[in-house]
Amino acid sequence: MDRIRIVGGNQLNGVIPISGAKNAALPLMIASLLTDDTLTLENVPHLADVEQLIRILGNHGADISVNGRRERQGESYARTIHFTSRNIVSTTAPYELVSKMRASFWVIGPLLAREGKARVSLPGGCAIGTRPVDLFIEGLTALGANIEIDGGYVNATAPAGGLIGGRYVFPKVSVGATHVLMMAATLANGTTVIGNAAREPEVADLAKCLNAMGAKISGAGTGTITIEGVRSLSGARHRVLPDRIETGTYAMAVAMTGGDVILEDTDPSLLDTALEAIRRAGAEISATNSGIRIVRNGPGIRPVDIVTDPFPGFPTDLQAQFMGLMTKAGGVSHITETIFENRFMHVQELARLGARISLAGQTAKIEGVSRLKGAPVMATDLRASVSLVIAGLAAEGETMVSRVYHLDRGFERLEEKLTRCGAHVERVSD
Ligand code: EPZ
Repeated sequence: MDRIRIVGGNQLNGVIPISGAKNAALPLMIASLLTDDTLTLENVPHLADVEQLIRILGNHGADISVNGRRERQGESYARTIHFTSRNIVSTTAPYELVSKMRASFWVIGPLLAREGKARVSLPGGCAIGTRPVDLFIEGLTALGANIEIDGGYVNATAPAGGLIGGRYVFPKVSVGATHVLMMAATLANGTTVIGNAAREPEVADLAKCLNAMGAKISGAGTGTITIEGVRSLSGARHRVLPDRIETGTYAMAVAMTGGDVILEDTDPSLLDTALEAIRRAGAEISATNSGIRIVRNGPGIRPVDIVTDPFPGFPTDLQAQFMGLMTKAGGVSHITETIFENRFMHVQELARLGARISLAGQTAKIEGVSRLKGAPVMATDLRASVSLVIAGLAAEGETMVSRVYHLDRGFERLEEKLTRCGAHVERVSD
């Protein structure tokens, strides 16, 4: 199994290209099931999660080609992928496939809307909390679906004439359930209004693509989304928006090591709150024509308290990385996680590098140390694993990160991007 070996101590200087957003690409790919026409997505990152979803969509009958070639032959960066689901050959998403990635559960929306039924295994995914599906069930029920859970599967059926537009106010913000309800409502009879919707940029990106396919969605990116159902959707061509989590991760890496890096092909407005926290930690951040420049020279890292929140708050997907940065701050900081109940698994691994962190409920107290020391550490989930990379870049000596498959789920060519900026990072295959 691959490991990542980091020899810490180098500053980062240079240019890092930011990939398309994993968390936008996944729902966009799933949206292709809504039409029998071809949906072409540009700027799709090459990640294990994308490959897994390609397998899942293939199981439902999607014909998928990469850059005009068949899947698996295309190894290029920022791929263009064509998805054509002329016929849905199966409305079942089996446990073997869904258990590997939570987002694959989201096929329930398009399958139910287009075929009137779906049988989808309860999901798996990162071990960061219980992550139930009650909001999906309530939301789809509000569109007239009949839903039963049986033998680990969610069985959903639409009324004879198809889903019916309805009104649903989420009791809690959910990105995935907002995606699913929005997709399902595009083909419902009548108008749907979603209240307390997730406002994440990936929701707005999905709505933009669905509208290009002929849907009638307004308000995506705000707390209230209105969807006027249409009879059918057509194909479209859509470019996946930049990955704000990858952007924030590299910005934090530069703040950690010091240096001067341009993050290219990204947009600072996607992560204002996180960039503000990095600024307060002592880095200079400015917008460039096509991205962000981040510089930290001289003074050390300042402690900053953060609380995770749904967009536009500080993203939970950058919490671990920010903790990595705070391990070397000149003072005490506090990080409170409000989205997931078990997203602190990086704490004990960061401690192996010499970090001083204590946990009280959902808040971590980080007492910054002047030096971290390299050690063997283990990746436990996607974002936790990259926080270990950030800490390793500033630790003395060698840090060996095992279980790298977590990183490969969400960071495209991480070692290449960092090495080009002067870091000593390599993949070691056993
Ligand atoms: C999306 O997950 C992201 N995944 C996550 O990124 C991200 O951490 C999360 O949103 C929050 O921003 C993708 O976009 C593929 P949620 P999602 O539904 O949609 C609870 C990463 O590292 N909840 O917004 O699954 C849930 O347990 C991943 O890239 C219910 O209670 O998250 C959580 O506490 C990890 N019932 C909260 O809502 C439900 O039916 C928010 O989860 C659904 C969710």
